[in-house]
Amino acid sequence: MKGIILAGGTGSRLYPATLAISKQLIPVYDKPMIYYPLSVLMRAGIRDIALISTPRDLPAFKALFGGGEELGLNLSYIEQPKPEGIAQSFILAKDFIGTDSVALILGDNIFYGEGLDKMLSGAAELKDGAEIFASRVVNPAAYGVISFNKDGKPLCVTEKPSKPASPWAVTGLYFYDNTVVEAASRLKFSTRGELEITDINNFYLSSGKLKVNFMGRGMAWLDTGTHEDLIKASTFIESIESRQGVKIACLEEISFQKGWIGRETLLKRAVKMKGTPYGNYLLNRDAEGLWK
Ligand code: G1P
Repeated sequence: MKGIILAGGTGSRLYPATLAISKQLIPVYDKPMIYYPLSVLMRAGIRDIALISTPRDLPAFKALFGGGEELGLNLSYIEQPKPEGIAQSFILAKDFIGTDSVALILGDNIFYGEGLDKMLSGAAELKDGAEIFASRVVNPAAYGVISFNKDGKPLCVTEKPSKPASPWAVTGLYFYDNTVVEAASRLKFSTRGELEITDINNFYLSSGKLKVNFMGRGMAWLDTGTHEDLIKASTFIESIESRQGVKIACLEEISFQKGWIGRETLLKRAVKMKGTPYGNYLLNRDAEGLWK
């Protein structure tokens, strides 16, 4: 399975913070925002990953990750010249996807919680159809929202409905079989001028091939759209990290646990970041004998 991170857009709701840099590069507590969605793809076992961003921002992502070797990844980069919708990713990444299935995650989506790994590894096995993840929110009108029939089966997804049919929002994490490439090429632009991921989800839903994973109370899906959301997300991450002494989205740790990099590569990166909480975490865990 291939992976795509879409980190495009202008981030205009976060101006002036994002006037000169990508929204997905600004920090959520102690690391760039993009670390969080990247860690989700990695935890799903995906190593071939394309990062899609604007011509302005791609060089900065390349400077951050390079080819991904030090993280045990194979990273490539694709330009999205204009923000013309999430579903455009599959058109832009057609050659990269080839004949594989594909997972797409939005560069500003943060997931956390017990049970996530199990959901991810299940979805990463997907060969036929699609899997999406839904989370209960208080402001569903801001998202793609699922409506249900009287037996509780998903009926359709509506993008940013003025009267949401349920509190279940579609999160920015999607797994599709290879049909998605052709399905995306047949989409028409919506009234907001985008190729909508919701249209892709409804395409799979109407052919009975969409599995919806409902994220329960033990899982968190965090928003980073506004300055208030950002500080809340940072505080959430900080609370867990400082209380439990673990790091969320520590890419080197995940890669080591997957067996993609060895102790030497991990320590090389740790030393580079020595004196920071992130670098010290990796070094302290080495002192505890964890990287064996
Ligand atoms: C997009 C999707 C929406 C989904 C959301 C998740 O919204 O269109 O269906 O619920 O991502 O973050 P947008 O980023 O376009 O507001």
